[in-house]
Amino acid sequence: MLDSKDWNQRYLEGKTGWDIGQAAPPFTSLLQSDQRPAPGKVAVLGCGRGYDALLFAEFGFEVIGFDFAETAIESAVHLAQTHQNQAQFQQRDIFDLPGEFSNYFDYVVEHTCFCAILPPQRGEYVKVVKSILKPQGKLIGLFFTHNRPGGPPFGSTPAEIQTLFTIDFRILSFEPVTNSIPQRRGEEHLGIFQRLD
Ligand SMILES: C[S@@+](CC[C@H](N)C(=O)[O-])C[C@H]1O[C@@H](n2cnc3c(N)ncnc32)[C@H](O)[C@@H]1O
Repeated sequence: MLDSKDWNQRYLEGKTGWDIGQAAPPFTSLLQSDQRPAPGKVAVLGCGRGYDALLFAEFGFEVIGFDFAETAIESAVHLAQTHQNQAQFQQRDIFDLPGEFSNYFDYVVEHTCFCAILPPQRGEYVKVVKSILKPQGKLIGLFFTHNRPGGPPFGSTPAEIQTLFTIDFRILSFEPVTNSIPQRRGEEHLGIFQRLD
């Protein structure tokens, strides 16, 4: 379950409760801050309708958004065209990306994709992020750290996330978020993790 057909069906039926209709506020504040990462190539995993991808492209990053739901990608492409935004979008399963994008990206952006995959796939997710990043590349991850049972969205604790990533990444920062949307207040952590080697 939770394959591309399931997710696409949610988009077709408008059952997209995760969709906040804008880029995640913590990404906007990061890009507007002194801590703004230098422009480079960005992959947005499970990009949905593309708001976060468009945001990074607006700030001069060279962005590809990936999602395996056809309808999400169609919406993202349309949004980019409407806003004359340079972000690109490809309909892909994120677990297939290492073959084509090995050591390719300066940054990977995570926002509600990690919580959308099945928890047993998380180890493989970490390997995908490592594989598509250049050495020293960075994951900019906004993690949904709720503790309710079931999913998606599947919850996680900050400790679990750190344990998973520490093998292949240096944790540069990992903090609770203060400007979440109201529905996620107190349940998000923003991390910047750097690929080792
Ligand atoms: C909860 S939605 C979040 C979408 C977007 N990040 C947002 O915040 O609006 C999860 C997204 O991940 C996509 N997704 C889940 N598993 C995927 C996979 N293995 N490969 C590509 N996309 C995937 C789904 O199609 C869906 O668009």
